[in-house]
Amino acid sequence: MSDDVTSAPWWQDAVIYQLYIQSFADGNADGIGDIAGLRSRVGYLAGLGIDAIWITPWYRSPLRDAGYDVADYRAIHPRYGSVDEGRELIDACHAAGIRVILDLVPNHTSSDHQWFVEALGARPGSPERSRYHFRAGRDDGQSPPNDWLSVFGGPAWTQVTDAHGHPGEWYLHLFDSSQPDLNWDSDDVRSEFEDVLRFWFDLGVDGFRIDVATALVKAPGLPDLGYPDGAFLADLTRADHPHRDRDEVHEIYRSWRKLADSYDPPRMFAAEAWLDDPDRLSRYVRPDELHTTLNLYYLKSAWTADSMRRAIDASIAATSGVGAPTTWGLSNHDVERVVTRYGRADTSRRPGVSGPELGPVDERLGRRRARAAALLTLALPGSVYLYQGDELGLADAHVPEQARQDPIWIRSEGRRWGRDGARVPLPWTPDGSSHGFGDDGAWLPQPPGWGAHAVSAQEGDDASFLELYRTALHLRRTHPALGGTSEFQWRDAPRDDVLVFTREPGFACVVNFGSTPAPIPLDGRVLVSSDSGDTAGDVPPHGAVWLELHPAGRA
Ligand code: NOJ
Ligand code: CA
Repeated sequence: MSDDVTSAPWWQDAVIYQLYIQSFADGNADGIGDIAGLRSRVGYLAGLGIDAIWITPWYRSPLRDAGYDVADYRAIHPRYGSVDEGRELIDACHAAGIRVILDLVPNHTSSDHQWFVEALGARPGSPERSRYHFRAGRDDGQSPPNDWLSVFGGPAWTQVTDAHGHPGEWYLHLFDSSQPDLNWDSDDVRSEFEDVLRFWFDLGVDGFRIDVATALVKAPGLPDLGYPDGAFLADLTRADHPHRDRDEVHEIYRSWRKLADSYDPPRMFAAEAWLDDPDRLSRYVRPDELHTTLNLYYLKSAWTADSMRRAIDASIAATSGVGAPTTWGLSNHDVERVVTRYGRADTSRRPGVSGPELGPVDERLGRRRARAAALLTLALPGSVYLYQGDELGLADAHVPEQARQDPIWIRSEGRRWGRDGARVPLPWTPDGSSHGFGDDGAWLPQPPGWGAHAVSAQEGDDASFLELYRTALHLRRTHPALGGTSEFQWRDAPRDDVLVFTREPGFACVVNFGSTPAPIPLDGRVLVSSDSGDTAGDVPPHGAVWLELHPAGRA
């Protein structure tokens, strides 16, 4: 596993597979993915050609927000397995050449966490309450202490009952009421999380993705936000935001970086940071802070030549300015799957929107574009995040209302669909009670037709999504121009709806965003095309090709 001392750190160009554990593979037939199921599929992951997995939260939790509500940061939820099984899994992944990244949730705990239970039992102003944000309400205690709203809908405050059964203080939760925000001014909180990091690093974990990395520090006094236009998300970019992207948060990451660097090999961090300004984002990856951030700007961009080019340029400019690698990803467990989004008339990912207003989906078109997008993404310099099931070309599943679990659906009282459609268990085989996910059903229902996208149905079929990903991932590992963070160069394109770039030595990627074939503008041999049909030397509509340039055509 250790890198050659002369080579760049592994995370600079790694392909990281986001593994949504409850929906990956079920090893004990209870309908829920688990460590045993995951272990049985390590061979699949190694064969796919990824470098690392990021496992979404597997800790003990009441699961009100799919595990992003942690009750014990040092315990694995029994439905997934035990810490011993976790250690064995990490070893098995390492033996297969796969690194393991966990998900750290430092902004909030679960309301079942021992600290919060203690806080509820303690008096206002007590040390127990000071680990969270407890405040007296306004209007004689009747209204929340300020105007902040929960990302999931409704106010960001919930009132508790005091020792005499009367309405008491309010506590802050930027997400669900079962996710109280921690107070990062508390020394207890700071030292506890450093300890949690050590616990998992000592077990062999290679890094952490940091949940809502921008939100930990709140403005002193918790001032009103103001909401001039009444919208929650519209305000996230404003200067001096009281609960997002505050300068003081960087100090926490500087100290975590020192901790990660004290390990051999050093451990890594990836920040989840929904910031619209790439320059603000790049501050998280300054040399003494975190290693990488997820690139949600790229993820949100519309599928047009213009918009993707802008996102690529801005992302590279921002990260290279601080000497960090760029990362690229098209989806995750919080957004619609890429096939669905790219099948809509408006292909941008609009924050806060998810409901009937999104309009109809043409999945055939979405699949074509998603295949092209895979080739674009895997050819860019830096690291790539792949969300499980994207390699199978899965679309968002329709989850019947009575089966939905996302707190967004519940807290918005059905006005927002929530994220369950992107979280449905994977199909491994065309048939069976849960298409090979396990031996007895799936915790979120798989829709009709799910089996057609199964791993075993795609394996060996050159025209399949899976084989496209395998081919591209294999080329990315073996082609000298791919992987790495070496610069790339835009080239003249034959049309406005085509993007062309080269990487050295001798590689080109051409992406056609239009609906008619585009001529290949460079002299080279097609290494892989997003369209397996005969394209007669063109870049297919809504397609992409990778080229090995002929020596004469090289720069
Ligand atoms: C971001 C996570 O990706 C999402 O799933 C979760 O609901 C929120 N953070 C709150 O932890
Ligand atoms: Ca299970």
